[in-house]
This record gives sequence, C-alpha cells and structure tokens, in this order.
Amino acid sequence: MTQYQIVADGDTVLRDGTIKLHGPAAFEGMRKAGRLAAEILDALVPLVVPGVRTDYLDDVVRQMTLDGGAVPATLGYRGYAHSCCISANNVICHGIPSEKTLKDGDIVNIDVTPLLDGWHGDSSRMYLVGDVPLKARRLVDVTYECLMIGIEKAKPGARLGDIGAAIQRHAEAHRYGVVRDFCGHGVGRLFHDAPEVVHAGIAGTGPELRPGMFFTIEPMINLGKPSVKMLDDGWTAVARDRSLSAQFEHSLGITEDGCEIFTASPLGLHKPPY
Ligand code: MF3
Ligand code: CO
Ligand code: CO
Repeated sequence: MTQYQIVADGDTVLRDGTIKLHGPAAFEGMRKAGRLAAEILDALVPLVVPGVRTDYLDDVVRQMTLDGGAVPATLGYRGYAHSCCISANNVICHGIPSEKTLKDGDIVNIDVTPLLDGWHGDSSRMYLVGDVPLKARRLVDVTYECLMIGIEKAKPGARLGDIGAAIQRHAEAHRYGVVRDFCGHGVGRLFHDAPEVVHAGIAGTGPELRPGMFFTIEPMINLGKPSVKMLDDGWTAVARDRSLSAQFEHSLGITEDGCEIFTASPLGLHKPPY
C-alpha cells in the first residue's frame, strides 16, 4: 500500500517510505535549486574538452555551487568526498572525479546536486568530448529521448510503471540495455526518498502520480547488456560487458495537469551537441 504524506512548509520529513506531496512554497524551493543545477551544467559545456582533468571539473562544480549559495549534496554523502559524479564511457554512474583526463571521442555524464535552502536540485547531462563516433552519439541521443519520453508520462493519474515501461520500450527498440540496479527517486528536502523510479517496468502498475510529488527520472542506458559491475572503490559502477553507457537526469514536480521540470537548461543546452 502506497502511503502519501502532505508536507506543510517547515515540516521535518523522514525517510519513512511515504511519498511526499508538496505545496507552492516547495515548488519555489525546487525551482531555485533546480535552476542552479542547470546553470552549473550549462557552465560546464565549454570546459568539457580533451585533456581536462575530471577533478578540475569537480572543483568548478563545487565553486559554482557555493557561489550560488548552496552546498554540493554529494559532499560527505555516505562517505562520498566529491561535489559531483563524472562517469565516462563504460561507467554507468557514480564515477569519481580524479586526476584522470578526458580524451577525444569520450562521452561523459556529469551529475550535480546543489542543496539550496534545504532543497535538492538533482540533474545530469551527457557531454561529447571532441569528435565522438556516431555509435556513441546515437546512444546519447536515444538516452535523452528516453528521459523525455519518461517525463511525458509524468502527470496526475498516471502510474509510476508507465514511466519505466515507456523508457524501456524506447531503449529496447534500439537494442540497448536498460540498467536495473540504479533508479530515479523521490527528491526534495531529502536527496533520496521514496518512491523508487525504475526505468523499466509495466504500464498501469505502481503508485499513482499525484500533484505535489517530486522525483527524478534518470535512465542509464547501455549500448550492450544492462548488467552492472561495481569497482573496488565502492562507488564506480561500470557496464559488466564494458559497453558504453549514457544517462540524463531531471528533477521534476507533478502539477495539476502535467509536470514541471525543475532542472531545465536556462540556455536551452538540453542535449549535445551544445
Ligand atoms: N546524483 C546521484 C543521483 O542522481 C547520486 C550521487 S550520490 C554520490 O541520485 F554519493 F554518488 F554522489
Ligand atoms: Co538522482
Ligand atoms: Co543525480
């Protein structure tokens, strides 16, 4: 049985499995946090070039987050010590910024989560590093389409399973693999809250979507099989078959007649080429 909890301004919320339903002040809070996330991802566009160190990009994310009056929610989260995740090529998610450099032909996801005035704006985009082969660019395009097809299903009266089913259908039509081991999540005062937003599933199943729900959709799509392997660092998730993997993420809120994307790019830099 899905439980919903109406959250009033200033209420303390717990990770108790309930789906939170928010009001106008919360939408405003998420709008601001989401906008900052999007501005950071916009600002990274000219910096993601061959030869750049990923820990330099992490420094830029941290500085921009702080300058925006926020803190990176990942910093210190379950022992994670960085301001974003940077996941290149066969890394599915949670790639750790390091002294390693990006090289011509790489595809890379950067995932940021500024925590601004108590609200989490969680978003990621893919970037193309220099000249990227067509096969990889196609994966990136289709992954963006998967996110947007999922978002089209996000409206009152729909079920959570409608989102995953639509994403899975599109990805598999291209013979790509939908990662099952990680999913989208409720977001808001909490970074990761109920419900789990899976990216593969059965239409007409799962919790009903109601106005005031906030959650992310963040499909991870592999050129090959969906299986994941965790590296020894405890964070980095790679495609077990080492195929390329892509991901885009938005944070959104269900409205009376659809949804509001909190993390849309103010500059219209939705997907590469930027
Ligand atoms: N931003 C990621 C998400 O979309 C979570 C990263 S948690 C970290 O949910 F600790 F790996 F940074
Ligand atoms: Co997320
Ligand atoms: Co994220």
